[in-house]
Amino acid sequence: MSGDPGLGIQLGLFYAILCQCVFGVVPPPANLSVVCHNFKNVLYWNYSSAVQQPTFTVNLIPYESKPQTVKTSQTHLDISSYSSEAIDHYVVSVTADVGQEISESLSVEFTYSTDFYNEKTHKCTLDFPAVDASVHKDVIEVSFKHPSAFYERASLEEEFEYTIILNPSSSSVPHLQEKSSHSCFEDELGYLCETKVHVNQSVVVQWVVLKFEGKIASIPVHTYKNVSVPQLEPASGNYKPFRL
Ligand SMILES: *[C@@H]1O[C@H](CO)[C@@H](O)[C@H](O)[C@H]1NC(C)=O
Ligand SMILES: *[C@@H]1O[C@H](CO)[C@@H](O)[C@H](O)[C@H]1NC(C)=O
Ligand SMILES: *[C@@H]1O[C@H](CO)[C@@H](O)[C@H](O)[C@H]1NC(C)=O
Ligand SMILES: *[C@@H]1O[C@H](CO)[C@@H](O)[C@H](O)[C@H]1NC(C)=O
Repeated sequence: MSGDPGLGIQLGLFYAILCQCVFGVVPPPANLSVVCHNFKNVLYWNYSSAVQQPTFTVNLIPYESKPQTVKTSQTHLDISSYSSEAIDHYVVSVTADVGQEISESLSVEFTYSTDFYNEKTHKCTLDFPAVDASVHKDVIEVSFKHPSAFYERASLEEEFEYTIILNPSSSSVPHLQEKSSHSCFEDELGYLCETKVHVNQSVVVQWVVLKFEGKIASIPVHTYKNVSVPQLEPASGNYKPFRL
């Protein structure tokens, strides 16, 4: 590998001069961050310089789709429409440009998908679709839109597997906690995912907390639902056990 050491020095000198020309004058942006939740992705950065107001060039390099470039004079940019592929990974870099001069770039990586998680990647968050719940005696009927319909993303059209944990914080009281697994397809009638959760009627509770956890196209989602359960009579002589 060891070539002519003179060449390395020459190249080094060449780059030093090049860098001075290109990066010399314009200070780079600072503190680049991304806030990404429910497919709303916004970049923020800082810029403080005595020199004239620069234009910022934002370069988006997705892992799967085509790279894009956007220019702005503000220190934030909503890139949702440029990063709309739900299951992609994005590298975004920002430079400050004054005339022909371009600053060094600052970059950030983000993704919603666990397939692309690493230490450097900012992990975006997605909410579990809004859940409706109604109580009929010892049964809680829950329903929500399939994530592909809720977020209107064709790339989320696949079987949605999720679990419902009844009273997730009471694991020390085994008969109070129940976990059940479910799945829902994107072509369900009205895109509606529906299921029933049975509550042990002999346990007198006023509030039941349901934790919903799932993964769609490698994107984790979860939510809590606090459901009011009418107080029941204490178990009487003709108490019949209920299936959970
Ligand atoms: C970057 O953030 C740090 C800490 O919040 C702050 O002190 C600094 O002034 C910021 N940089 C710029 C250029 O605003
Ligand atoms: C830097 O940007 C953050 C947003 O990322 C903003 O909250 C903060 O006020 C900015 N700081 C300065 C010094 O401009
Ligand atoms: C319902 O709760 C009672 C009292 O805590 C318990 O003994 C019983 O095993 C529970 N039934 C089921 C089906 O889990
Ligand atoms: C459920 O909601 C009720 C009424 O808003 C509240 O009093 C109760 O603390 C909530 N329980 C939990 C576990 O959030």
